[in-house]
Amino acid sequence: MNRSTLIAGPSAAPLSGTLKPPGDKSISHRIVILASLADGVTKVDGFLPGEDNLATAVMFEAMGVPITWLSEDKTRLRIEGCGLHGLRQPDGVLDAGNSGTCARLMAGVLAGQSFATTLTGDASLRRRPMMRVVEPLRRMGARIDGLDDGALLPLTIRGGELAAIHHVSEVASAQVKSCLLLAGLYAHGETSVSEPSPSRDHTEKMLASFGQPVEMREDAMVLRPCKSLRPPEGVFRVPADPSSACFFAVAASLLPGSCVRLAGIGVNPRRDGWRRILMQMGARLMLEDERTVGLEPVADVVAQDAQLRGIHVERVDVADAIDEFPALFVAAALSEGEFVLGDAAELRTKESDRICIMAKALTACGVELQEFPDGIRIQGRETLRGNVRVDAADDHRIAMAMAMAAQRADDDILIEHAEAIATSFPDFVPMAQSVGMNVRWADD
Ligand code: S3P
Repeated sequence: MNRSTLIAGPSAAPLSGTLKPPGDKSISHRIVILASLADGVTKVDGFLPGEDNLATAVMFEAMGVPITWLSEDKTRLRIEGCGLHGLRQPDGVLDAGNSGTCARLMAGVLAGQSFATTLTGDASLRRRPMMRVVEPLRRMGARIDGLDDGALLPLTIRGGELAAIHHVSEVASAQVKSCLLLAGLYAHGETSVSEPSPSRDHTEKMLASFGQPVEMREDAMVLRPCKSLRPPEGVFRVPADPSSACFFAVAASLLPGSCVRLAGIGVNPRRDGWRRILMQMGARLMLEDERTVGLEPVADVVAQDAQLRGIHVERVDVADAIDEFPALFVAAALSEGEFVLGDAAELRTKESDRICIMAKALTACGVELQEFPDGIRIQGRETLRGNVRVDAADDHRIAMAMAMAAQRADDDILIEHAEAIATSFPDFVPMAQSVGMNVRWADD
């Protein structure tokens, strides 16, 4: 066994204490991108030093952007922007690793450059759909070659003069919207994007703080032609990631007597679906010290144990909780009654097929469930069966969700292929231990 296997088991005591989860992954990607393209220096605090975000930073360094780490833990940095037209052609291939956000947002940036680049990723990312950004970028004038006519990475992008388009996205995807808004920075004319339901709006908020507001006009986001981006005043602070906080809120809800304070969590409504869903299930999640960090609403979330019950998830909450379903499925498996999710086919296109992989893992723990093409039905039970091996399929969120599940199992659960936790939450194990969770790497 090695560091890729996590051993998690039933907790002997309730969870208690205060945690500050790492910086928001979506915002950390975007601050590196916008600061690199701005004229001037941006200082950042609270950056997520996970593998995904470091991949984005390495890409800009390879294109000549000076990035200085101001702390050993890589949560503070200084980015010396080169301006919209100051990047240089990298010597080699740009590797997004496991990160869909990095690949898709960078495709938009690279489409605006006057040089060619090749963008690739790890085995999981090379299976994920890229046509959703390739097709509209081609319509804007980018020349893109790739596997399966550009449906899959690697992609070679020859950018240059772009024309503005109006794009009607078939999926509620912040990655698609953000890719096109970033390409739109290089386009002649107004770029606009509409989506079937609103996705996370960090790109729009952050573009505004770089002096380039995005207007909402008749259901479409509209970006005007841009000459330059201006770094925001002062230090740019990244809130703690709600997607990382959610795991602990679930674990605290499930373990009698628990009370955990999750400090400085982003509670942007477009990211807060997990809290709405858990509260509909009966969770006790209090917001304290509500404040604003930059343009983002932030609060401490105090999570206490509760008797959870299954619900039918409302369609309107799906996009706002899209990354939290692995953790929510664990909550569902330990609730009273039935939990039903539909309209969530996008879950099959994430770092893994999250419906299928979670269904396999929970079934191994004795849970009765039924998969649908676009969702799942989960029958709740009192405890999970332990002394089983489950496969996290190199998906960080599945590994962490199953570690939460084990807190209410009757024996240890071995979670294999869990090393991808480092993509979004490098300190997950010590932080989980600090509030009393029973979890460790197999070889520690
Ligand atoms: C993200 C958008 C979401 C989400 C991903 C991060 C982003 O993906 O699942 O983890 O930062 O824009 P989609 O846009 O594909 O839904």
